[in-house]
Amino acid sequence: MSEQAGNDDGARPFLYVVVCAAGVADGVGRLIDAARERGWEVGVMATPVAMGGFFDVAAVEAGTGRPIRSAWRTPDDPRPFPPPDAVVVAPATFNTINKWAAGLADTLAVATLCEASGLGVPVAVLPCVADALAVHPAYRESLARLREMGVRFGDPYTGDAQEGGARPDFGWESALDLLERR
Ligand SMILES: Cc1cc2nc3c(=O)[nH]c(=O)nc-3n(C[C@H](O)[C@H](O)[C@H](O)COP(=O)(O)O)c2cc1C
Repeated sequence: MSEQAGNDDGARPFLYVVVCAAGVADGVGRLIDAARERGWEVGVMATPVAMGGFFDVAAVEAGTGRPIRSAWRTPDDPRPFPPPDAVVVAPATFNTINKWAAGLADTLAVATLCEASGLGVPVAVLPCVADALAVHPAYRESLARLREMGVRFGDPYTGDAQEGGARPDFGWESALDLLERR
């Protein structure tokens, strides 16, 4: 079942930003602002866990001018977003990356990712995965499988704090650079 709607106004390309439940998700406003500055219209999809306090839902909705999508719509509800011209997953968790690679579609967010490659839509991913999880063989296989599907990955990022307590910059805008790459 496709979750995509007919085109909005066709003026600006439409970017889906998929947000997973990682600690850095509270910075997603930076990605939304940067994407809008680069000419994208943005709609956010968040996993159900991410909706539980990982970022400021009201601020993101104000920034995009659209409600965040997380739950499945009912069959009679209209499709609230136009079809995507591109998709960014940031931050991408261990859990969602593995489910996506395995073809599991138990949240709207991961189901949308499963469908995106089949639709020929470019997808860029900024993983946020601790080293202890990143060495798991299932994760390494998931990355290889998604790369084979044409998914573009940013640099590994662990989310660990540096000396002094601050986290390194997540590099939100690199997701947009990945999409613009030919
Ligand atoms: C405060 C907090 C920070 C977390 N940060 C991460 C993270 O950086 N990366 C990650 O893969 N999981 C992280 N998790 C665990 C995920 O939230 C958990 O695996 C969840 O099931 C992911 O769901 P989702 O992939 O549907 O968003 C964190 C959990 C908590 C409570």
